[in-house]
Amino acid sequence: MTEPILRLHGVEQIYTSRNAAGSGWSTVRAVDGVDLDVREGETLAVVGESGSGKSTLAKLLLMLNRPTAGEVRFRGRPLAALGPADRQAYRRQVQAVFQDPASSLNPRMTVARMLGFIVRRHDLAPPAEVRAFLARQLAAVGLDPPESYLDRYPHQLSGGQQQRIAIARAMMLRPAIIIADEPLSSLDVSVQAQVLDLMRDLHQATNVGFVIISHDLGAMEAIADRTAVMYRGRIVEIGGAIYARPCHPYTRLLLEARLSLDPRRGRIRAMSAAARPEAVAAAAGGCRFRGRCAYAVDICARAEPALRTVGTDGTLAACHRAEEVGAEPIAI
Ligand SMILES: Nc1ncnc2c1ncn2[C@@H]1O[C@H](COP(=O)(O)OP(=O)(O)O)[C@@H](O)[C@H]1O
Ligand code: SF4
Ligand SMILES: [Mg+2]
Repeated sequence: MTEPILRLHGVEQIYTSRNAAGSGWSTVRAVDGVDLDVREGETLAVVGESGSGKSTLAKLLLMLNRPTAGEVRFRGRPLAALGPADRQAYRRQVQAVFQDPASSLNPRMTVARMLGFIVRRHDLAPPAEVRAFLARQLAAVGLDPPESYLDRYPHQLSGGQQQRIAIARAMMLRPAIIIADEPLSSLDVSVQAQVLDLMRDLHQATNVGFVIISHDLGAMEAIADRTAVMYRGRIVEIGGAIYARPCHPYTRLLLEARLSLDPRRGRIRAMSAAARPEAVAAAAGGCRFRGRCAYAVDICARAEPALRTVGTDGTLAACHRAEEVGAEPIAI
């Protein structure tokens, strides 16, 4: 297999902040020992409850955060060791799209001015051809007629149009991969499907890879080659078949919550408020999911399960009973 474009090895991100009373410090292990390969051209979804460390993972992949331990590699080279030229190459190749397009676009600039900066900085087109170049970029993200969007300000665009501009900005440099943190969640449901279709079309047309963070398992099932499930800073399951054959009890819980409810969205967030992961005793050693797990047995209190291969379809799961869990049909 070819070398992964991004590789995390033993990555940990601890945040330290003043506690609410201001009388001391508290620490949060937002990402806690993650190993992850992101392959060239794949669409990798990352799902999990709010607070499970998904955005921190995205920031680590984007080099916006420096890990407190472990290593992130870009095409085999540790990010921490990249020189200026390689760092610039990385910045071009690994692009970001964020949740709220309105706040990621400069409100005081027209689309042409905002994107024109990037064209000039990277010398993507001769000065006389910048507008025509930009029009092609907007056409490629489905803005039609593209010229009519060039002189608009962000507030003159709908949320879906803004997110298309943000995607056009990310695509302009022909990146190898786009890291998108909840790119759908600020959009109306009907617009979400269109933006998802756009990402799929771009993937097919250019082979750009995506890491898409989302609460919406239904949407991710439709688009992802593989899906990683995060729970309290760890990847507890990853694979291409987790929707049909979940091997971790937490993945089952997420899927059953989705299946038992009418349409998508909302439920996972609601569930996370009702059963706060941090409310579960974090006794050293055992499985961090055991306080919520219907499958827990004695060993789960003693030994933290490692992420390991389960079955033959390439799934990895961190559960002592993953084979049994995977063998059970999903209750619909
Ligand atoms: N800058 C920060 N300082 C302190 N704690 C943070 C910071 N960012 C995130 N956290 C905490 O880290 C944990 C993971 O957060 P995050 O990565 O945003 O998760 P998610 O995107 O899955 O909701 C949460 O407990 C959150 O409160
Ligand atoms: S290791 Fe045990 S507690 Fe953890 S998910 Fe598996 S069965 Fe449940
Ligand atoms: Mg987040």
